[in-house]
Amino acid sequence: AETRKYQFDVQMTRVTRLCGTKSIVTVNGQFPGPTLFAREGDRVEVAVVNRSPYNVSLHWHGVRQLLSAWADGPSYVTQCPIQPGRSYVYRYRIVGQRGTLWWHAHVSWLRATLYGPIVILPPAGVPYPFPAPDEEVPVVFGEWWRNDTEAVIAQALRTGGGPNVSDAYTINGLTGPLYNSCSAAAAAKDDTFTLRVKPGKTYMLRLINAALNDELFFSVANHTLTVVDVDALYVKPFTVDTIVIAPGQTSNVLLATKPAYPGAAYYMEARPYTNTQGTFDNTTVAGVLEYEDPASGGKINLPVFAPTLPQINDTSFVANYTAKLRSLASAEYPAAVPQAIDRRFFFTVGLGTHPCSVNGTCQGPNGSRFAASINNVSFVLPTTALLQAHFSGRSNGVYSPGFPAFPLAPFNYTGVPPNNTNVMNGTKVVVLPFGTAVELVLQDTGILGAESHPLHLHGFNFYVVGQGFGNFDPANDPAKFNVVDPVERNTVGVPAGGWVAIRFRADNPGVWFMHCHLEVHMSWGLKMAWLVLDGSLPNQKLPPPPLDLPQC
Ligand code: C2O
Repeated sequence: AETRKYQFDVQMTRVTRLCGTKSIVTVNGQFPGPTLFAREGDRVEVAVVNRSPYNVSLHWHGVRQLLSAWADGPSYVTQCPIQPGRSYVYRYRIVGQRGTLWWHAHVSWLRATLYGPIVILPPAGVPYPFPAPDEEVPVVFGEWWRNDTEAVIAQALRTGGGPNVSDAYTINGLTGPLYNSCSAAAAAKDDTFTLRVKPGKTYMLRLINAALNDELFFSVANHTLTVVDVDALYVKPFTVDTIVIAPGQTSNVLLATKPAYPGAAYYMEARPYTNTQGTFDNTTVAGVLEYEDPASGGKINLPVFAPTLPQINDTSFVANYTAKLRSLASAEYPAAVPQAIDRRFFFTVGLGTHPCSVNGTCQGPNGSRFAASINNVSFVLPTTALLQAHFSGRSNGVYSPGFPAFPLAPFNYTGVPPNNTNVMNGTKVVVLPFGTAVELVLQDTGILGAESHPLHLHGFNFYVVGQGFGNFDPANDPAKFNVVDPVERNTVGVPAGGWVAIRFRADNPGVWFMHCHLEVHMSWGLKMAWLVLDGSLPNQKLPPPPLDLPQC
């Protein structure tokens, strides 16, 4: 194992997309940001220097951060943000993970432009459990706003309404040829992600959904995709035409090119999956899969084939796709699904409202302000970091224990919503003794409409033991749980109008954020935190914070 050292200078960079130029926050002037490479078992040290005018922190999405909660990164959860002119070195080890993860800013909406891939290779000499690909390529989906994204969310929170949707999706930061822009020819040439391939080869696409607010379908015309892992954990391979990927999720897929030069190029396309009309970007982004023409030595063929993607609201397609995901559960890569459960939780996730303080001025539903909650608690971040408050024994006035394990006022979650849709504010955590085996059912509510919520848990991977539509039935559904080879991951879509059940073991001391990875829902409060206590053994205790940990 080695130590991989990086310097990330957070800075302002002028970037042109959709024929407009704006100043965005980048790492080292790159958009998307640099790829972080490591092998499983390596140490990583990223020295972040904040040369931007914003408060910044970076999160290593999906890295388990075993005994290194101080490096996890969410602002006001594990650290105070790095102030302009300051720096912080994130130090952690990659343990028990190999595949694709990603890093992104974890404060306000800065992750709109501050993100990049994390490529984790197996330890030297350890093969993939599938035939090795000839080439590996990160394919990162994002969103682009013509306006400044910090202004977009600030305005939404001020008015209590929904933020403007993005103006385009991107693939590796590029908007592609399908958007109307001032010069279609220029856009097709410079703004399109083009993957040049050779016939008869296998390419591993390292897919990352870094979009702020949309789950996506992704497909490559006339080619299939074989899914071999999700969230840096191997799955039993399966082959599909279209994959589904929620914000936060990653997946490695194999694409086999045609055996001979086909004399054509193919579009790859991504487009949203959603069943809430009108509050999302419903455009399509395209890249190009271009075969090198052996005869012409680099001649460019325009794509003639476009993929057929599912309908925008095809929830059953999504349910069928996610049902195919199974962990490898082999001798080398066993599934350690907790079988005896110590604590059970049932969380409702969904939207809600805050009353408007000045009647008639709020742009949310029926003159209210938009909100979102878990068990009706809309989480409010403190002005200091939860983990710092916990570690120094000064939690008073920062957070309280007692986040509700069950809804305080049960209702028919997928039936007629209650008359009162107001949520309550709170900064509450669930306290778990070290090693607790947790089962958590996440239930979507139909308040302001059923919607899929990609829930992300920091600090752990979890097993997805069950999912279904309608209300979770505690009497009958657990009997159908898959506790043998359920998929293991760090971000799961709670089905629109349905539920999902996950299990994990709380074997990592620290404060761990859990939230909807739709950034707008996170801004509205769809988030909470788990406080996992130290265990009794020396290797079960969180070490003290690094000396350069930012202070608020
Ligand atoms: Cu990828 Cu808390 O986030």
